[in-house]
Amino acid sequence: MCGIVGYIGDKQAQSILLSALSMLEYRGYDSCGIAVVSNGIKSYKNVLRVAEMKEIAPQIIGTVGIGHTRWATCGEPTRVNAHPHFDCTGNIAVVHNGVITNYPVLKQKLINDGHEFVSDTDTEVIPHLIEKYYKGDLEKAVELALLDIQGSYAIAVIGAGENKLVVARKDSPLIIGVGDRETFVASDVPAILDYTNQVIYLDDGDIGVITGDGIKIKKDGLEIHREEHKILWSVEAAQKAGYEHFMLKEIHEQPKVIRDTLSEYTQMSEPIVDLENLREDDRSILILACGTSYNAGLVGKYIMEDLVGVPVRVEIASEFSCYGQTPEKTLAFVISQSGETADVLKAIRKLKGVQCHVVAVTNVVGSSISRIADQTIYTRAGPEISVAATKSFIAQLMVLYWLAMSYSKVDAKRLADILLELRQLPSKVQWMLDNGEDILQCARYLARFENVFFIGRGLNYPIALEGALKLKEISYIHAEGYAAGELKHGPFSLLGENTPVITITGQDSTYESILTNIKEVKARKSPLIALTGDGDEAIKEFVDMVITVPRVDPIFSPVVNTVALQLLAYYTARERDCPIDFPRNLAKSVTVE
Ligand code: G6P
Repeated sequence: MCGIVGYIGDKQAQSILLSALSMLEYRGYDSCGIAVVSNGIKSYKNVLRVAEMKEIAPQIIGTVGIGHTRWATCGEPTRVNAHPHFDCTGNIAVVHNGVITNYPVLKQKLINDGHEFVSDTDTEVIPHLIEKYYKGDLEKAVELALLDIQGSYAIAVIGAGENKLVVARKDSPLIIGVGDRETFVASDVPAILDYTNQVIYLDDGDIGVITGDGIKIKKDGLEIHREEHKILWSVEAAQKAGYEHFMLKEIHEQPKVIRDTLSEYTQMSEPIVDLENLREDDRSILILACGTSYNAGLVGKYIMEDLVGVPVRVEIASEFSCYGQTPEKTLAFVISQSGETADVLKAIRKLKGVQCHVVAVTNVVGSSISRIADQTIYTRAGPEISVAATKSFIAQLMVLYWLAMSYSKVDAKRLADILLELRQLPSKVQWMLDNGEDILQCARYLARFENVFFIGRGLNYPIALEGALKLKEISYIHAEGYAAGELKHGPFSLLGENTPVITITGQDSTYESILTNIKEVKARKSPLIALTGDGDEAIKEFVDMVITVPRVDPIFSPVVNTVALQLLAYYTARERDCPIDFPRNLAKSVTVE
């Protein structure tokens, strides 16, 4: 994880580095630091959030600099372990995102050669290697140092007295923002949107040298050209726009996300994935993902099996990439909001090894996953800053609905009904957002407990998982999602007055069965909160509190139910005074296995 930034131009670097870093805190926020070329190199780093750093960091004069916000992997979050890291002379500074896997060997060799290390990080070997190879040419020294390194990296390097930034990437994201007489480097686009919308995406193996004269990019020792791309996200899209938290803003953007994603895909004349052949060849679909994206994949399984009629297997990418088996030529969808999740990348490489066709579903243009997949379908969620995924999940569902509908084998009448309902979905979600009083009441009640179960059946089983994930991520309440029928196989021993159960009550063939489960739970004295469709009076007899969601065609119930559960998690976390956008120990883009 971690976020890195760099600046070279005609303005003072410090404030630009810090403002860019504040947009990358979703990648990690254990500590942060900057270094600026300033009569040698001056640096400030500490166990602080970027906002605190802005307040107390001494002013460093200089127009070339680098910055870092950390999610600790190697070495605890301490001032010494915070980036930038230096060589022995203090004349070379490096920020790094990734993991150097052979650092123990490199470190020992460098120590034998007389280098002194101060931190526990893997990163610190990089400036020492550069120092070892430095003979007056920073670019050459970086090139040689990288030959020794194994693992993943996005780095930015500065040298004392050098009016340049040297950058490189392998398996960790890095972009260059091209401004007017100034150039930016960052792990991700939101960091630079305030300054420019022209971006160059670096590829694995690229080394860039940025000076006042321009940008030179080399790969395998040869100079190459990388296109500039115009970013269509607006600056406002990456700001809070008056909302208390990014998460609340992102929840409220969901009606627009549904419209944007659908209007993009329903206008396509050609389907982009060949599911037809798949059906003829009697093959199956594999979906791979992590976290919230995995839950979207599970919903995808239900809707594709229902509408398309092909078997779908959904696997957790970290398990599959190490232990999974797959028949050759399977069609695989990999779902990843960030497009950078290391476990997903590893799974894709494995799939490609057995000639599977890999379709990436991601929100980030130019992300690592989109580069190595055979095809990419972009979700149109816009930048998602809050660590807990909300609108990106809904956008993923929209892509999965669209795919299933494009190849649907259901009759024309049913398909027409689904399409009609789909068009009404944004206004139904808006209704949810405008009528959240019952959710707020439930959140106030829930906030006092430490253990909660979420149960659902069928299509809403993944939503029970997602509801529990959202709640535990941001409110720190221990929450588990269960298939409603499974609760009696173990978790019943935990039920009682101090363990509320939230039921996601589908308005479909699952209704009667879940009512039975509700009664079983009630008999064990657990407080019950039911999410149910507008007008369901019958359920009130059996539960303690009700959250009303608008009636939709059952196939779309995951959408409205998820929005309700996102709000429930949000209000509960707010009630418990939790740092909602940046929960402890988490990061949005998980680039380590
Ligand atoms: C992290 C994030 C989650 C996300 C998961 C998968 O754990 O905190 O919100 O669901 O990574 O991320 P991806 O970018 O692959 O969807």
